[in-house]
Amino acid sequence: MEQRVEGIDVLACEQCPELCESRSQIVNGTGATDASVLFVGEGPGANEDEQGEPFVGRSGDVLDSALRDRGLARSDVRITNCVRCRPPENRDPTTNELGNCREHLHREIVAVDPELIVPLGKVPSQHLLQRDVAVTKEAGSVVEHRIAGTPRRVVICVHPAATLYDSSQKDVFHRALDEAVSIVGHDAGGQSRLSEY
Ligand code: URA
Repeated sequence: MEQRVEGIDVLACEQCPELCESRSQIVNGTGATDASVLFVGEGPGANEDEQGEPFVGRSGDVLDSALRDRGLARSDVRITNCVRCRPPENRDPTTNELGNCREHLHREIVAVDPELIVPLGKVPSQHLLQRDVAVTKEAGSVVEHRIAGTPRRVVICVHPAATLYDSSQKDVFHRALDEAVSIVGHDAGGQSRLSEY
């Protein structure tokens, strides 16, 4: 596990009784605290719960390799989750749990102040944008939304795990990441398009 980051990491929390039962530890975000891109997943799974780091299982492998293909290391970006404790049997976090953990996510967003937020999958997309999201259809769309009091640029993306179960999602996932990376200008020779917005 990475070193603790003061002001971003949650060291103790007992707000969600079921998650306190199911977690073995709180899984905080990792990566650069001044990253231009913040990826937001749903919540820790078994591997993340065990290792104390987001996206270290099979979905993490997909994400890492997609980042590597674009010349980025995990340490160049920030990766976090909507909820920091593993839900039992990998169920989706409840509305209450998402609400309880929102203050932690918002504090991380304010501290990192990324140029772009990339929610990975339906739960984080809907949680951040506060509306229904048809993720496959909207993946790659650039959306402006006020989050934690500040207008934020968001590129909707499918969850990396979706590419493992449905190969048609690979293209959708990679196109959304291409869009994200082209906006922040880290792709090979890419120009930042931030001035367009
Ligand atoms: N899926 C998520 O949404 N988050 C993780 O950290 C791992 C898998």
